Amino acid sequence: MTTATLTVIVSRKWQEAQDICGFEFISEDGSPLLPFSAGSHVDVHLPGGLIRQYSLCNNPDKTNHYQIAVLRDANGRGGSAAIHDLVKEGDRIKISEPKNHFPLAHNAPHHLLLAGGIGITPILCMAERLTAIGDEFEMHYCSRTPERMAFTSRIQASPFNDKVAFHFDTGDQAQKFDIEATLANTQAGTHLYVCGPRGFMDAVLDAARRQKWEEARLHYEFFGAVIERPASDTTFKVRLASSGVTLDVPPECTVIEVLAASGIEVPTSCEQGVCGTCLTRVIDGEPDHRDSYLTDDERATGDQFLPCCSRAKTPYLVLDL
Ligand code: FES
Repeated sequence: MTTATLTVIVSRKWQEAQDICGFEFISEDGSPLLPFSAGSHVDVHLPGGLIRQYSLCNNPDKTNHYQIAVLRDANGRGGSAAIHDLVKEGDRIKISEPKNHFPLAHNAPHHLLLAGGIGITPILCMAERLTAIGDEFEMHYCSRTPERMAFTSRIQASPFNDKVAFHFDTGDQAQKFDIEATLANTQAGTHLYVCGPRGFMDAVLDAARRQKWEEARLHYEFFGAVIERPASDTTFKVRLASSGVTLDVPPECTVIEVLAASGIEVPTSCEQGVCGTCLTRVIDGEPDHRDSYLTDDERATGDQFLPCCSRAKTPYLVLDL
């Protein structure tokens, strides 16, 4: 899968909160950028050849610019450090067209927006959109400390400020986020949207499933996912259907790395199992899915997998390559 890219100018870069930088992009000739829907992200091509996905967080009614915000991740794989340290105002960089894997369900009677930390970016965009179209919503924004909370002034100056509850890990017990109570006190048919660190998202989704929310009302997007590499991983083989070439995938390598070492290029972007770019058809064998992209039904079917992170449960996989 290839995605069209465009060159944009970094028109503004600012410190939005502790360890969080905001970036604004405009087109080279000042013309409007492509319209986007709330929940969209763009792939950003970073210095050093990395490509990372960032949610657009400006009001989707405004297409004279795009905004993103990035948390510096000290334990990350270099993407957040590259954009924090190397991208400056006035730079020209490449981004993809906006893509949306996290859209609003516009037929929902009510929306519950939950943001943890930097997960505020798509959630803020959703709040802007729901306000513009007059849909009912409630929003909870959780952060470790007030200093780490981005976009507080923007939210406080917005027409939806009274719909937002702020929660901190620090501070008194009364303001802390009570997942179970929040989920239990919503009106029937509410749709839930959650974005944030993996632990936050897992806690919210686990609670929703315990409370028997239908999957169709749960909307989420994992970015910066941590791919598990358990010590129990073993070597397996991949066979390419077109040529019959068979390659060993040792525990320390991904399928993508093994293919690349043999000159077989599969397009990649996130390399974290979140974007779907490397989606590959599986003709035989059973994948061991490690991604956050496929639905449970797609995983169960077993005829496709994400070779940037997923492995095999069977001794070999035959790939449609
Ligand atoms: Fe993004 Fe594999 S490259 S899912």
